[in-house]
Amino acid sequence: ELEKTLAIIKPDAVQDADEIKRIIKASGFSVIAERQIHLSTEQAGDFYAEHYGKMFFTNLMSFMSGGPIIAIVLAKKNAIEDWRKLMGPTNPMDARERFPDSIRALFGKDQTQNSVHGSDSVASASREIRFFFPQMILEPIPTGQ
Ligand code: CMP
Repeated sequence: ELEKTLAIIKPDAVQDADEIKRIIKASGFSVIAERQIHLSTEQAGDFYAEHYGKMFFTNLMSFMSGGPIIAIVLAKKNAIEDWRKLMGPTNPMDARERFPDSIRALFGKDQTQNSVHGSDSVASASREIRFFFPQMILEPIPTGQ
């Protein structure tokens, strides 16, 4: 029943990490692991491999390797979907219009510097948690069979 997801506080919002974590916990999530890390551009490219070739990829790499980030494993019932709701839309301008209480509305700057990341599926949560916490024991991913 409990689901895990990977949250990242991106370089533009690390200064706001305490406030962001307060909102996360007040929204019913448990923080089960946390680490601060400064990625190389190569590691950032590896993490965001699915976006390779998109026009914003180079920007995203230099932004995500431009300073430390905080990777957090969150647990809650329905954690993946609920964390994406709490983050708000990718574009903070859009977030401020439609979801003014969301984290990107409150802390995001633009489409790249949008303060936080969240896994978009069970499979990516599993991959992304392992990326930052390779020793963590996770449930097998259901195959649907
Ligand atoms: P994130 O949820 O971490 O997943 C991919 C990231 O790429 C996204 O947040 C943004 O930071 C960035 N991104 C997505 N779309 C765009 C875009 N159109 N222009 C610039 N950056 C983008």
